[in-house]
Amino acid sequence: MTKPRILLLTYTLNRLYYPMHVYIENIADYDGKKVLIKGWLHNKRSSGKVRFLLIRDGTGIVQSVIAKDEADEKIFEIADKITQESSLIITGMVRKDDRAPGGYEIIADSIEVLQMAIDYPISPKEHSIDYLLPLRHLWLRSRKQNAIMRIRHHIIKALRDFFDDQGFICADTPILTPAACEGTTTLFKVDYYDQEAYLSQSGQLYNEAAAAALGKVYCFGPTFRAEKSKTRKHLTEFWMLEPEVAFIELDGIIDLAEDMIIYMIEKVLSKSKTELNTLKRDPSKLESIKKPFPRISYKEAVEIIKKKEPDFKYGDDFGAPHEAVIGEHFDQPVFIHHFPAAIKAFYMKRDPNDESLALGVDMIGPEGYGELIGGGQREDDHDILLKRIKEYKLPEEAFQWFLDLRKFGTCPHGGFGLGLERTIAWICGIKHVRETIPFPRMLDKIYP
Ligand code: 4AD
Ligand code: MG
Repeated sequence: MTKPRILLLTYTLNRLYYPMHVYIENIADYDGKKVLIKGWLHNKRSSGKVRFLLIRDGTGIVQSVIAKDEADEKIFEIADKITQESSLIITGMVRKDDRAPGGYEIIADSIEVLQMAIDYPISPKEHSIDYLLPLRHLWLRSRKQNAIMRIRHHIIKALRDFFDDQGFICADTPILTPAACEGTTTLFKVDYYDQEAYLSQSGQLYNEAAAAALGKVYCFGPTFRAEKSKTRKHLTEFWMLEPEVAFIELDGIIDLAEDMIIYMIEKVLSKSKTELNTLKRDPSKLESIKKPFPRISYKEAVEIIKKKEPDFKYGDDFGAPHEAVIGEHFDQPVFIHHFPAAIKAFYMKRDPNDESLALGVDMIGPEGYGELIGGGQREDDHDILLKRIKEYKLPEEAFQWFLDLRKFGTCPHGGFGLGLERTIAWICGIKHVRETIPFPRMLDKIYP
């Protein structure tokens, strides 16, 4: 009987003398209570005899007020000396105050500085991108980057939940591969013992094997392309979410992509309001995304593009200005299907009514974000696929296993790949994909 009582007493005393560690995102639950915050000094202001410390802990930012006349002399001294990004532990009473950023502040009664940061290189003023990129390991701490990374997390979770809830199995695909999936011009070569290997450009081919084993699958991981182009939409390492389904045709693939986008947007709008606000992203731009998205053929897209870009010819691949014309024309995500086979990958099934067309589909995002999704129905006939592998001059030996899938119970199947970073850029309304991944890899850029 005595033991639980002693425990309860110890707990109560502990609570009185050692306040509970609280994350700033939950601070509103502790109004009028004493808490302990562990974090870093984000910024500081002074006004006469009052110091305002803005403290961040990764989950949010809270203001701590230290008044010379009220606070302990030692605390006031620390508040005067503490520098940006110094690590600290602070205790104090939570008080609701509408003037404070976030609506609550902490009346500090103790501050322990764990490490005083000297000359933090990113002061609160504006900096150029060339200055910030090599400092990415520190730049991530900024309010804006924090918001983007949080939205990235919620987008990933929403996408996974969308597929998990429908019984898809996440089957991982390899990163070291013996052959190309998306053309041989953007391969990163790796020495694989005495053999040449490549970093994966897409998990699709292995996904096809997994779909025949498990029915409906997805893979989600980093993919690599030795892009020669330096644009705001290209990374050399980017993440792709790729579902693949057995017994599905082009229309079903488009339906799946459409439902996925709608689901993701709903989740972001409900989970990431604060972050969208931090990024000054107008939520109505996302709220206005409604299904059904327009579905047009490549041929129809060419007609629309030609009105603004008269030099564009049937058979050309879309570049950024052409995608922008489509995006502006519809102001919704748009599916473009039935591309000329000549500009698409070897594995795409051809239209049974017109051999020159591939049953591929791209989704072009609104507001100039360009191609966010690429996919389609796969060639499921062994002999036709073999012919294509030869036409595209791909190494036949490396694709034997892929051809096997057409020998042993072939079926109509397909899927797509969603480029995660381009999707995040669109949702966040930021211009360049380099800010949508913690450590971007770009043409000639691999530090830090
Ligand atoms: O259109 P892509 O090349 O399609 C595939 O790789 C298919 N094998 C996917 C599949 O069907 N399972 O790439 C898919 C998406 C693009 O629409 C784009 O959003 C993104 O991946 N992407 C890139 N994102 C950032 N940087 C790059 N260099 C990208 N290349 C493609
Ligand atoms: Mg593509």
